Amino acid sequence: MSKKRKKLNMGNTGPLVDVIRREIGQPLRGVEVGVHRGETSALLLRAFPALHLYLVDPWTTYPESHLYRQSGDGCSKLTQAEQDANLRATVENVQFARNRCTIIRATSVEVGEQFKFCAVHGKPLDFAFIDDDHTYEGVRNSILAWWHNLTPGGLLAGHDFGHPRDRRGIWGVSRASLEWATQVEQKLCTSGELWWITKPEEAEEAGDGPSYGRYQAGVFYSRLKNVFL
Ligand SMILES: C[S@@+](CC[C@H](N)C(=O)[O-])C[C@H]1O[C@@H](n2cnc3c(N)ncnc32)[C@H](O)[C@@H]1O
Repeated sequence: MSKKRKKLNMGNTGPLVDVIRREIGQPLRGVEVGVHRGETSALLLRAFPALHLYLVDPWTTYPESHLYRQSGDGCSKLTQAEQDANLRATVENVQFARNRCTIIRATSVEVGEQFKFCAVHGKPLDFAFIDDDHTYEGVRNSILAWWHNLTPGGLLAGHDFGHPRDRRGIWGVSRASLEWATQVEQKLCTSGELWWITKPEEAEEAGDGPSYGRYQAGVFYSRLKNVFL
């Protein structure tokens, strides 16, 4: 394994499986936002045999002026060729569960907003795992985009809480997650660098808004319309 690959190996999301098992049991629908090479996705799909997982990542490049790029995240500096290779690795890593996966190549907010009011297989998501752009704005936007897609009792979780860059205020994972927990009057739980908030049972259900249709298993490109693989 090359030095670079080693450095970018995200890993360290193992406790997520235990937390989901403990808090939800056997989830049926979930999303991972920020997928990289699909290593955590494969972990989740192996641990939960009935899970249909939505994998959301634009697998794209960012200009130097982009806040995400300025946050120093290794993934923000990848070339398009490297991102394309990461998407291919993802497809390979989740191949064993291809009928339970929907890979969507688009940004968190773009997909989360279109998911809004769109019940997946008739129901909202059991969990959303937010692990994309770790700037305050990035985490906050992802929380706002995905909270509404969760079922009451569902789990909003994320990664890199208290990471050294987060502690130094370069990233905003703890700030955004703590703010949201306060806003929805729920407890913010952490274990290592994992954070999660349970959506209260009495929380308003997603309403009868516009429907964007159901996502099928497969790989979709940008704006959720063009099947490209
Ligand atoms: C920390 S890595 C994800 C690691 C992965 N969750 C794992 O456990 O192996 C961050 C990923 O977020 C993606 N990303 C960056 N900005 C994004 C956005 N706005 N929406 C979705 N994904 C994004 C990057 O392309 C990168 O693949």
